[in-house]
Amino acid sequence: MPKKVTLIATAAMGLESIVANEVKALGYEDVQVENGRVLFTTDVSAIPRTNLWLRTADRVKLLVGRFKATSFDQLFEETKALPWEQFIDEDGEFPVVGKSVKSKLYSVPDCQSIVKKAIVERLKKKYGIASWLKETGAFYRVEVAIHKDEALLTIDTSGSGLHKRGYRVGQGEAPLKETMAAALVQITNWKPDEPFVDPFCGSGTIAIEAALIGQNIAPGFNREFASEGWSFIGQELWDEAFREAEEKADYDQPLQITGSDIDPQLIKIAENNALEAGLGDLVTWKQMQASDLKPKMDNGYIVTNPPYGERLNERDEVEAMYRDLGVIMRDYPSWSVYVLTSHEQFESFYGKKATKKRKLFNGFIKTDYYQYFGKKIRSKPTHNKGF
Ligand SMILES: C[S@@+](CC[C@H](N)C(=O)[O-])C[C@H]1O[C@@H](n2cnc3c(N)ncnc32)[C@H](O)[C@@H]1O
Repeated sequence: MPKKVTLIATAAMGLESIVANEVKALGYEDVQVENGRVLFTTDVSAIPRTNLWLRTADRVKLLVGRFKATSFDQLFEETKALPWEQFIDEDGEFPVVGKSVKSKLYSVPDCQSIVKKAIVERLKKKYGIASWLKETGAFYRVEVAIHKDEALLTIDTSGSGLHKRGYRVGQGEAPLKETMAAALVQITNWKPDEPFVDPFCGSGTIAIEAALIGQNIAPGFNREFASEGWSFIGQELWDEAFREAEEKADYDQPLQITGSDIDPQLIKIAENNALEAGLGDLVTWKQMQASDLKPKMDNGYIVTNPPYGERLNERDEVEAMYRDLGVIMRDYPSWSVYVLTSHEQFESFYGKKATKKRKLFNGFIKTDYYQYFGKKIRSKPTHNKGF
């Protein structure tokens, strides 16, 4: 087993610092942040742990090597010099995928086949195999990513992207990626015992991610990972990571999370998704239009992804929704409001300048995350239920 491994948690543009904070919170140090990724060097047990726990990363990759490559010869020799046998078993199946941006080696199929040949040669020599490699065993997806003549060789440890938590059995028209929903919650200062509402909840992603965060449930608890079958990690480390996740979950933490949407079908879908996530009836779901929102408690949080009004015929309606929300929330100054939208005039319809704005990409859509900080009321305990 290699003593140390360097892992790369990949991140959507704009979420790198949030992913880095999560990595640090798991106890890993010397975290390096680059565009679209976070790197850290640690022991092998971090592979199961980060896959299970990271809420905002897209996937976790194992870095095998990083070097300058301006010729195919160089790519071949440098790849062959890397210790692939430390990770890939004698019978391992290892397809090679690739990408190349702003580099001399721009033919991706050629780069892929050169990397494949170099790894085959290395493994045959190390395992003393004269004929071909069987490739009938565990699966290792190797990637060669070349950017400005620097090659990054990685093996994907996650399998499907980490946003696939395993709970989304249904979805609406424009569901938010689970990783992005978790980031929206983490950007707020919400604490699990405070009221939390998504009045445009759709299939419930934000509210479900908040509940998972609130009870400290590992987001990967319900799924499988590509590296579960890798012998250099071993079953014991995976069992340990799943045991840790079970121990750290705080199923007794009370939550006051509500998701509402105008569409009754979506409320059914959200309910089913929450059940699938193992949350039972922990989240309250309600069919309601956002303009009927009437919080009954203090110090709550609205975290939401309303329609953006990108289609012209929806624009007026969406702008009226923003205006209504602004008017309602004026009466609840202790509430903090967080809205993700691509509508550039959101603040003027909402009727107030955001305390803070953060640029984020929702898939390919450029959005802003408008953040309004509530003025907390400290000394007034309230026993009301509902919102
Ligand atoms: C962008 S989607 C939210 C997607 C959600 N974040 C998810 O992950 O599934 C916006 C939602 O707003 C809902 N909606 C539209 N007009 C509404 C209104 N006036 N009141 C409440 N919900 C509304 C739509 O039904 C849709 O589900």
